[in-house]
Amino acid sequence: IKRITTHILQEMKDRGEKISMLTAYDYSMAKIVDAAGIDIILVGDSASNVMAGHETTLPITLDQMIYHASSVVRAVKRSFIVVDIPFGNYQGNSSEALRSAIRIMKESGAHAVKVEGGSEIKESVSRILTAGVPVMGHLGLTPQSIYKFGTYTVRAKEEAEAQKLLEDAKMLEACGCFAIVLEKIPASLAKKVAEAVAIPVIGIGAGADVDGQVLVMHDMLGITQEFKPRFLRQYADLQQIMTDAFKGFIKDVKSKDFPNESESY
Ligand code: KIV
Ligand code: NA
Repeated sequence: IKRITTHILQEMKDRGEKISMLTAYDYSMAKIVDAAGIDIILVGDSASNVMAGHETTLPITLDQMIYHASSVVRAVKRSFIVVDIPFGNYQGNSSEALRSAIRIMKESGAHAVKVEGGSEIKESVSRILTAGVPVMGHLGLTPQSIYKFGTYTVRAKEEAEAQKLLEDAKMLEACGCFAIVLEKIPASLAKKVAEAVAIPVIGIGAGADVDGQVLVMHDMLGITQEFKPRFLRQYADLQQIMTDAFKGFIKDVKSKDFPNESESY
């Protein structure tokens, strides 16, 4: 199997083939999504929400991200694996950003890191890139800044914020980022960004006119049920399927149907 690389992702944009990306946080799920043919697996800090049950992405630690990432790496044969650097491990200064990126690459075996923000983190992005670590940017609704925004509503509807986002995207490209995620912004602005930069732009709630799409695995599988934003297309109802399976097991244990003779030694 041929591994996906940043070079292959760039070729996809150049020929207009859309890039598919999903999150994964553990070995078993990563194995399934990789075998299905996903282009990029994101070990997102959304693990803080869907794995650990926190309300935001802020509490997850670098050690915890490395644990998730190394589990994913052990499962994956083809996908390109990107890992979020968590809140607090890259914003302060560029040496700390580089140290965090190196720990992720060395201890997990992943292929790239993702960081949230534009001009504010320019030095951190550049410093990580000097070490040869591919960086994916993330603009628009950046969940690590949720307490600055106050809500999870659509970003960059105002001209000033839209202009800054476009400039930030160009800056990230100029620094050498290999791709950018745009989260929850108007489709018209996302289209403008995808046309303005040569690198792949991957959207979540950013409309159709970008170079690829990303969703959180547990949301698209219908495991998380409380969270239903407009951009989320649910491809399965795993909550129902799992509930039926659990109830079936409970019933068979109580009724002594399980185990039967052929299931015993
Ligand atoms: O952590 C995450 O899942 C993400 C995606 C939503 C892009 O950053
Ligand atoms: Na994230």
